[in-house]
Amino acid sequence: MQAKVDPQICIGCALCTQTCPPVFRMDGDKAVAYEPEVPESAKTSCKNAAEQCPVNAIIVEE
Ligand code: F3S
Repeated sequence: MQAKVDPQICIGCALCTQTCPPVFRMDGDKAVAYEPEVPESAKTSCKNAAEQCPVNAIIVEE
């Protein structure tokens, strides 16, 4: 599974960094997927982060 954040859409609410810290962290006022290949153990929280992002800035691909 791969994850990325669209920096044009992200509003920097930081929810994803709390929901799935193994994959997302803040870089200034935007989130980045610093672990784009999502570890097995973080798949569920990564999907939750994508669903909960208020502006749907997270792209998850199987
Ligand atoms: Fe940005 Fe959405 Fe995360 S707005 S900080 S990608 S929850």
